[in-house]
Amino acid sequence: MAGKIKMWYVKQMKTHLRHPQKGLFGWFVTQYLTKRNGFLEENAVRLSNIKPDHHVLEIGFGPGIGLESAYKIIKDGNGKLYGIESSFYMVETASKRLHKALTDKKLMLFHGCASSIPLNTDSVHRVFHCNSYYFWPSMRPVLREIYRVMKPGGVMVTTLCIDNLKKSQKNGFLNKGIADPVKYMVCLENFGFENVHIEYQKDPITGKEFQAIFSEVIEKPAHDKSMFSDDEDDEIEKEVERLFHTGNKNISET
Ligand SMILES: C[S@@+](CC[C@H](N)C(=O)[O-])C[C@H]1O[C@@H](n2cnc3c(N)ncnc32)[C@H](O)[C@@H]1O
Repeated sequence: MAGKIKMWYVKQMKTHLRHPQKGLFGWFVTQYLTKRNGFLEENAVRLSNIKPDHHVLEIGFGPGIGLESAYKIIKDGNGKLYGIESSFYMVETASKRLHKALTDKKLMLFHGCASSIPLNTDSVHRVFHCNSYYFWPSMRPVLREIYRVMKPGGVMVTTLCIDNLKKSQKNGFLNKGIADPVKYMVCLENFGFENVHIEYQKDPITGKEFQAIFSEVIEKPAHDKSMFSDDEDDEIEKEVERLFHTGNKNISET
């Protein structure tokens, strides 16, 4: 009986971390993301070095803590914020938190998958995301799309807490998707991002430790040539798989 309850709990957590939905577990995950995870969002914004005139995109914004923090920076400038999120419940939750930014027309929230971002090519100066890449259906379409919308000179920051990831993986909350930060970094390099590196950081207020992965788009290939053909892309993904042998290497092994 206890085993069945545990299995049910793990299944609910796995589902709602990947795609929070209205209901008890959706509410619980939202509280967790807001109270325990908010510092990662705030640090992603801090490390992105956002200027008041920047156009900024967050992928998988959840309850909207990071966008709220970024709004404080761009609200008096010419900057704009964009967020894309696949959970409608999270879009609704963040819309309440970010009501002022939305009515000021400084923020647009899109409901959808980050593999199709409704923004112009070369339009965004900064991209950030936290605890999201492990849930993307596949790295390639999302990274290609982020690359497309980023301006040359743009920077992307991803914050995560490897210790918490290990715990989530051990608890069975993350058994699908790519949690391994090294694999994520290899994919970034393979899909055109440069200066990819990880930094070990501390939250300046609480001292909590976390990691930040930085990547840049320095110069893009000429627009009359596509960056990669699909065949070349397939080879790149296969190469990453070959490097790691398994599709889902446990991060405790890194
Ligand atoms: C664990 S939550 C993290 C939310 C928030 N970034 C935070 O750290 O509090 C993961 C979020 O990513 C979103 N997500 C997952 N896959 C996505 C995708 N392909 N495109 C957009 N959002 C996605 C989920 O709906 C969920 O809200």
